[in-house]
Order: sequence, then structure tokens, then C-alpha cells
Amino acid sequence: MPRKIAGVKGMNDVLPAAVWRWQEMERVAREVFALYGYGEVRTPVVEPAALFVRGVGEATDIVNKEMYVFEDKGEETLALRPEGTAGVVRAYIEHGCHVEGLQKWFYLGPMFRRERPQKGRYRQFHQIGCECLGVLEPGIDVEQIAMVDDFLSRLGVKAELRLNSVGDAECRPTYLQDLKAYLNAHRAGLCSDCVERIERNPLRVLDCKVEGCQPVLANAPSLLDRLCQGCRTHFAAVREGLEALGIAHRVDPRLVRGLDYYVRTAYEFSSSAIGAQSAVGGGGRYDGLAETLGGQPTPGIGFALGQERLLLVLEAEGRPLAQARPSLFLLSADEAGARLAQRLAASLRKAGIACDLDPRGGKLSRQFKQAERVRARFAVVLGGNEAASGQAKLRDLDRRTEEAVALSELARRLAP
Ligand code: HAM
Repeated sequence: MPRKIAGVKGMNDVLPAAVWRWQEMERVAREVFALYGYGEVRTPVVEPAALFVRGVGEATDIVNKEMYVFEDKGEETLALRPEGTAGVVRAYIEHGCHVEGLQKWFYLGPMFRRERPQKGRYRQFHQIGCECLGVLEPGIDVEQIAMVDDFLSRLGVKAELRLNSVGDAECRPTYLQDLKAYLNAHRAGLCSDCVERIERNPLRVLDCKVEGCQPVLANAPSLLDRLCQGCRTHFAAVREGLEALGIAHRVDPRLVRGLDYYVRTAYEFSSSAIGAQSAVGGGGRYDGLAETLGGQPTPGIGFALGQERLLLVLEAEGRPLAQARPSLFLLSADEAGARLAQRLAASLRKAGIACDLDPRGGKLSRQFKQAERVRARFAVVLGGNEAASGQAKLRDLDRRTEEAVALSELARRLAP
């Protein structure tokens, strides 16, 4: 026997028994995003590696350590996308969309990061994301955060919102100098990862979770205290807007994100119900990204939510999503019944009624088991008698009741 071939570590299959949860989540996302005027964009899973090196940042773990990169037969160095924003902004630039005014786009799909797999952290994972290009005003920051909040509550996911401003090209450089000086002066109190990051990516040091580093980090200078006037005003307006909408948030001056493109607003939604990988989504502003990628200067803001993590939260909090189920299961007692079931199923499906049957036929008990497995709401048993009389008993499998129906009336009786 040939050896079995297993799937790639950290990349998961979603079988039909579980996929409806994904579909339901995606349906809610599409519904909510439409309410806010976002249209779907589909970009390739593979992009030039340079897009992420330049867009997300060479010094980030995502690009530096986790990106799947390969040579395309000596033509170009390509990468599996580790995130969606850079590709979306590339497409925006490539199609000259800036001439059409502000754009609101959403996307769904797989992303790839070669991380160490654990609960909530995979090498292929799926994001639901939105990007708005062309708006500098804080109103869009508020609207997007409200949209995420709306989506999460419709889904039944409870998450905490942490908010920060990471400054911009005016105030961040001097702050980084001060931060580096402070961290260098306190190297002895930092772990080796932190020390290694001081030069390369000092903001990320603030994000370190190692217990021993906390006293030094707690006293580190805060960027929030040193924002320039523009960033300060913007941040205040975002907070005010959220308060006006009653959206609870906590300002966290140590919130930094793992991607270099962020300026000003940065935020994360997290859940305490799913362990170490608690971020269910995050986002922020990236006003310089389009220019970095060779486009017109264009402000932008967006977010992405991890679908696997949302599902983990729903599981942990015991909130089932609504599952679609067949209305009717048609069972056949004999040959005539089997033929009738086939015909009836075809006409009911044409009428838009979801129905199912077991083409293997056989014992009624086995067919009932199958009806149960697919969670059908109603069942009818069809045989020679039903074929002759045009009448049958409709069993309500939830309520365990039954009623007589004319087969010609079934479509009307089961209409949603
Ligand atoms: P991110 O924070 O890197 O942001 O990822 C967003 C979400 O994707 C995370 O909060 C998490 O739920 C999920 N996620 C990330 N890595 C993994 C993984 N290895 N396994 C499972 N889930 C994961 C971005 O990607 C930005 N592009 C968001 C954004 C859009 N910012 C502006 N626009």
C-alpha cells in the first residue's frame, strides 16, 4: 500500500460538516459591509515578494521570518500573501482607482504565514478584511471601528477593543530616538528578543509579553505623550466619535501592530476566551502606504479579522450560528416510492425548497437515521399507496407530530 500523504502542517481542511459555520460568518460579513457601502475585491494569493518587503516592512516578523517566498522559474521572486492590505493597495494603484474618489473595499480569503502552529495560529489562515482609500478624516476611523463592532455583535462575538495612536512621520522619529535611548539604557532588564529588536524594530519591544521585561516596559516613554498636533487632534476626534456611538474602548499606549505601514490610529479586538492567540482582529491607518508602493499619496485605513479565531470564540462562548438545514427528507418504502421521491424532490427543489433523500434506499430505519444526520425538519415516507392516492403523512421531526398532506400541496406547505 502506498504511504498516505498528509496535508501541510498548520494548513487545515474545512469539511462540509463544519463549512456552514464559515459560510454563515461570511454571509453576515457581506450583509454588514453592504450596509456601510463596501464592495468586494478579489486579488491574487500570490504577489511579488517585493510588495510585502516594501509595504509591510522588511524588519517585521511577518516578512522577515514568516513569508513563503519562492522563485518563479528564474523570472521573479514571488510570495504567498501574508496579509491582504498590500495587495489591495497595489490593485488600487494599478487600476488608477484614485481618479474615482474614495474607495471602500472588502475581501475574504486565505493568508499564509510560516508561524509555529498552535491553537488559533495556523500557516494558512483566513481573513475577512476591509480597506478604505482616500479619506484622511477621523470620521472614517470611527465608522470602520463601528462596522467591526456591529459585525462582531451580530455574530455574537464578545471582544475588547484596544486603541492607540502610533504617530506619524512628524512625531514618531524623535520618539523612536528617545525610546531606543531608554531601552539601551535598560538592556539588562530586557529579554534577548527585546535587545535584538531595539535597533531593528523598537516599537515592537513595547509589545513583549515576557514577564521579566514588564518593569522596564511599564516605564518606557509613551508615544501618546509626544504626538504632534495633527496626530493628537486626530486621535481625540476618533475617541470622541467612538464615545458618541457608545463604543467601549480602552486606550492602550503600548498597543503596536506587527506591520510597519501603520500611522496614527491602530487598534485590536481581542477575546479572553481563546487563550494565547487572543487577537480576533486588528487594523489601523496607513496613510503613507500607497506612496511607498509607487502610487499617488493616498490616505488609507483598514482592518482584518481572523476567521479561525472568530470560530474559536463562538465555540468557546457556546454561541451556535444558525445552520441551514433541509426542509424535507423523502423516504422510500418500495420501488414505486423511490421513483415518486425522485420526481417529487426534483419539483420541490425547482420550487426553491431544500430537500434530501437517500438514493441507496433500503431499510426505513436507516433512511430515518440519514434524515436525522442531515437535520431535516420534516420527513415523508413514500410508497405504492402514496403514489396511488397522492396523499402522505408529513412528519415534523422537531415536534414529533404528523399531519396528512396532499403531495400536490407539499411545496406550498413547506414554503419558507
Ligand atoms: P494582522 O493583525 O496581522 O493584521 O492580522 C489580522 C488578524 O488575522 C489577526 O488579528 C488574527 O485574528 C488573524 N491572524 C493573523 N495571523 C494568524 C495566524 N497565523 N493564524 C490564524 N489567524 C491569524 C493584518 O493582517 C492587516 N492586514 C490588517 C489591516 C488591514 N490593517 C489595515 N488594513
